[in-house]
Amino acid sequence: MHDTTHPSSPPAVPAKPLEGWPDWSILIVDDEPGMRNFLVKTLAPRCHSVMSAHSAEEGAQILQQQHVDLIVLDISLPGQSGVAWLKTLREQGYRGSVILITAFADLETAIEALRAGASDFILKPFRVPQILNAIKHCFECARLVRENFVLRHTLSRQTDANHGLIGSSVFTRNLRETLPRVAQVDSTVLLQGESGTGKELVARALHHSSPRSHGPFVPVNCASTSAELMEGTLFGYAKGAVKGAGSARDGLFYYAQGGTLFLDEVGELAPPLQAALLRALEDLQIRPVGSSHLIPVNVRIMAASNRDLKDEVNAGRFRKDLYYRLQVVDIMLAPLRQRKEDIPDLVAHFMAQLAPRMGVSALQISPGQMDYLRRYDWPGNARELRNLIERSLILGELNVSALYDAAPRNAPQTTDLQVLEKRHIQSVLDNVQGDKTRAAELLGISRRTLERRCADWANT
Ligand SMILES: Nc1ncnc2c1ncn2[C@@H]1O[C@H](COP(=O)(O)OP(=O)(O)OP(=O)(O)O)[C@@H](O)[C@H]1O
Ligand SMILES: [Mg+2]
Repeated sequence: MHDTTHPSSPPAVPAKPLEGWPDWSILIVDDEPGMRNFLVKTLAPRCHSVMSAHSAEEGAQILQQQHVDLIVLDISLPGQSGVAWLKTLREQGYRGSVILITAFADLETAIEALRAGASDFILKPFRVPQILNAIKHCFECARLVRENFVLRHTLSRQTDANHGLIGSSVFTRNLRETLPRVAQVDSTVLLQGESGTGKELVARALHHSSPRSHGPFVPVNCASTSAELMEGTLFGYAKGAVKGAGSARDGLFYYAQGGTLFLDEVGELAPPLQAALLRALEDLQIRPVGSSHLIPVNVRIMAASNRDLKDEVNAGRFRKDLYYRLQVVDIMLAPLRQRKEDIPDLVAHFMAQLAPRMGVSALQISPGQMDYLRRYDWPGNARELRNLIERSLILGELNVSALYDAAPRNAPQTTDLQVLEKRHIQSVLDNVQGDKTRAAELLGISRRTLERRCADWANT
């Protein structure tokens, strides 16, 4: 029999008084009952769960049913030895930490143990701080592996060193005032708004001012891969679970442990994944594809959509229960054309941000030019404005005539704006020989938005 200690439900915010590893499940394998009890008592208050076994065989059974982050493993066991079992475990693809303990150590055993894939090696008898330090070290290593992964995958996206939300419109000021409060609570956040309105910027700002700021911010685009791949991407998979999966893989939920998982374009999730996500959010645990293990997760979810998710629910494309689970805090980002007071602030901000990076000096904007910028409709929102500033810095002048394809002498009337926008988009399309993907990129709008505009003109 093995003893298991579980809190009744995994706490969303670890509230344990002792220093510990609230997300971790630990397995103790030792044939001495006294040693097992001592370790269970010491570790139980410090981690998610502790299990114990008296032999490698019993340990293997537990591992088949449970996710285990760390094994404290005695070397001399009845039946298979600890080192022999460790070798098998590593061959089978087990990637958790393993601390070997033994009363009879010589240098050779120690070397063999480390070669077999042990994370650490401790001599019996040992004192509490020794084992705690060894576990702490393993936990730190696992955290570094995760952090390194996250860094490798987010550095290229991290375009804004300053997470500041710029703008003096009433809308932006109110939003800025709300952010600290939303950041403090651990609830799920749903960010909605057109492409380029700053949904990811707000999600990052929330994360960085939240109690999880020391944890990772892991963005994932739910529209980028097939449903099958997406499941593995989010939840991980067991060895051999997916075609070509020679080894097990952790999912992004795992890499976001202790931090925030940002589900971009959440409306694109396939129905089976919507169900799996809802389950993960309700149970605070995930099951990797093809695995029988449940892994406890301690992750704050933020989701974004540039379609109105309520419409998607009404159209039967998005689960209502998941929608309600996601929009505990609902932030609707207004399009730039509805908060034009932000334009001068954003121009100054992008100019100050981009010019030094590009090694050029900032451009002076005349009141006339600013007037043009304020009159334009900005279908690509702040991103389009940012792209315009970037292009202008390359060209050495703010090219508003390119924006409107009209000389700035006669300021366009508001009614003309649609015509001007059409002309502008058309000229960009002409420049790239009708390549819509490229044109959308240059305009700073999504290809879908561009296609919608073209379809609108076709109908008028
Ligand atoms: N209020 C703002 N202050 C400063 N920068 C902003 C602001 N709003 C948007 N930006 C900048 O505009 C660009 C687009 O923003 P972001 O990527 O957050 O948009 P999004 O809503 O996630 O768009 P999409 O739906 O296309 O993914 C980014 O470079 C972002 O930093
Ligand atoms: Mg985005």
